[in-house]
Amino acid sequence: MPLRDVLIIKQMRIEIPEGVYRPAEDTFLLLDALNNACIRGKALDMGTGSGVIAVYLAKKGFDPVLGVDINPVSGIALRMNSIKNNIDNTIFVNCDLFSSIRGRFDLIAFNPPYLPEEIRGLANVAWAGGLPSGRRVIDRFLLDLRNYLSPKGEAYLLQTERNGVQETLDLLERRGLRGDVVAETRLMFERLIVFKIKLR
Ligand SMILES: C[S@@+](CC[C@H](N)C(=O)[O-])C[C@H]1O[C@@H](n2cnc3c(N)ncnc32)[C@H](O)[C@@H]1O
Repeated sequence: MPLRDVLIIKQMRIEIPEGVYRPAEDTFLLLDALNNACIRGKALDMGTGSGVIAVYLAKKGFDPVLGVDINPVSGIALRMNSIKNNIDNTIFVNCDLFSSIRGRFDLIAFNPPYLPEEIRGLANVAWAGGLPSGRRVIDRFLLDLRNYLSPKGEAYLLQTERNGVQETLDLLERRGLRGDVVAETRLMFERLIVFKIKLR
């Protein structure tokens, strides 16, 4: 598998194969938010990409950690990066969101594709969130989320302001969930936000 890059992130060595999302500002903001999570137990990293968040959660003591991605190459990346960082409790599931997932999790993290761009299969699945507002994957994730959170479970969802903050709060309300903004950062053209979400 040709390597595109090697990064050192929070003392982890993360190798990025061709065709897998290169961790960026959104990844780093979500990692910062996860650093403050006090809960432990079973974790799920939705859209695991290189596996950087899954490996980080395993290093923080979550066990096991499922990495889910629609892109099968992510499975190779997660396995490779787990080995490089002496982690042996990550499991990869190749599926569309929760479609092959059973059970409940104490922590669910998701750095989704959120840019308002038409989704063209695996070519841009890492960043394209559909037109007009980039919410296609976010909304499907939130519709199912409550069925996969343990009673005290926490989900950390990143999005951009352009996706609509009120839209997320309204959907959470309709699904019996509560969301608080726990991290944010302003980039040149975006304001990235992390919601911490719990069952009501
Ligand atoms: C912005 S990248 C984040 C990658 C990594 N978690 C990170 O933070 O660096 C979004 C990831 O979600 C995956 N993805 C997109 N749509 C998905 C879906 N419907 N089900 C599962 N994974 C999906 C992409 O393949 C990509 O790896």
